[in-house]
Amino acid sequence: MTGNYYAIVVAIDFGTTYSGYAFQFTGDYDSEDPTKKILSPQSWNDGPNKLASMKTPTCLLLDRNQDIDSFGYIAEDKYAELCMDGDNMDWYYFWRFKMHLHDTKGLKKTTMIADQTGKELPALTVFSKSIKCMKDHLMKILENKHYVPKDDEIKWVLTVPAIWDDTAKGFMREAAKMAGIPPQHLTLALEPEAASLICQYLPVEKFSVGGQITFSDAKPGTTYMIVDLGGGTADITVHEKVRNGKLKEVNRASGGPWGGTSVDSAFIALISNIVGGPMFAQFIKEDKLDYLDMLREFESVKRNVGLYTLLMTSR
Ligand SMILES: Nc1ncnc2c1ncn2[C@@H]1O[C@H](COP(=O)(O)OP(=O)(O)OP(=O)(O)O)[C@@H](O)[C@H]1O
Ligand SMILES: [Mg+2]
Repeated sequence: MTGNYYAIVVAIDFGTTYSGYAFQFTGDYDSEDPTKKILSPQSWNDGPNKLASMKTPTCLLLDRNQDIDSFGYIAEDKYAELCMDGDNMDWYYFWRFKMHLHDTKGLKKTTMIADQTGKELPALTVFSKSIKCMKDHLMKILENKHYVPKDDEIKWVLTVPAIWDDTAKGFMREAAKMAGIPPQHLTLALEPEAASLICQYLPVEKFSVGGQITFSDAKPGTTYMIVDLGGGTADITVHEKVRNGKLKEVNRASGGPWGGTSVDSAFIALISNIVGGPMFAQFIKEDKLDYLDMLREFESVKRNVGLYTLLMTSR
């Protein structure tokens, strides 16, 4: 933070399936435990299945004039209702679009992406409007706290998969700029690096099972592997803990498009097989709310799957 006094640090996690942000006032920073007093919206409207979360689905709803209507659970619900009423055709709904940046062959500033109805908009517009939604959400929270920071008082951090190439990273930078984030106040952070850092400060006692510590903090010299399983990508990195709490990347990040959404696709294909493709397509078209409900229910089941569930069901 040299050369500039920041009053607040904001980190945006732009995910394939879920996105969110967290922030910390620099006055609250404690070098002994930097995780203290990190704030985030407690819930982004958790939807019918109580998928209460500090993140919200990465989906953007724009109106007929391509102006922002909503983002996240609210956008999902509203779009489902528009579909039910047959009013959705001239609205723009983008859902799980981050993977468009995974394979960047031919990615340009003018690259277009299609919404759910096939209408295209520049990818930069879709990404930047989504970032703007999170930025505006934060600004509203700060405003409610009677605090309106100046542009140069905010340090912004935006996460990106470590396996992305420079083209994709540059694209995110551009999108952030269009969303009103000054480039000189923005740092891109690698997702597994952020995960690795937070692991340095986890309370290890919380991870004990039957008195046995199953997770321990790394001492300097320890090398470990971070496997970040997201919605779109699996990001695998090897880090070494060095002195002064710093980390060194031992191996270049590797991985691929093997995130949780591929499980969703397999589930949808299974159901479609059981009831028949045309019947399932009709269901999606005519009962969007029920379809959305089914996806949310599946998500909630997935989140509760642990090793114990797997062992019990495989008996
Ligand atoms: N217990 C679980 N078992 C299997 N999958 C799970 C479980 N819990 C969550 N998931 C899946 O993990 C994915 C969400 O993970 P996460 O929020 O880290 O991804 P993301 O940030 O949206 O994506 P990415 O970081 O790849 O862009 C979803 O596909 C979700 O269904
Ligand atoms: Mg993620």
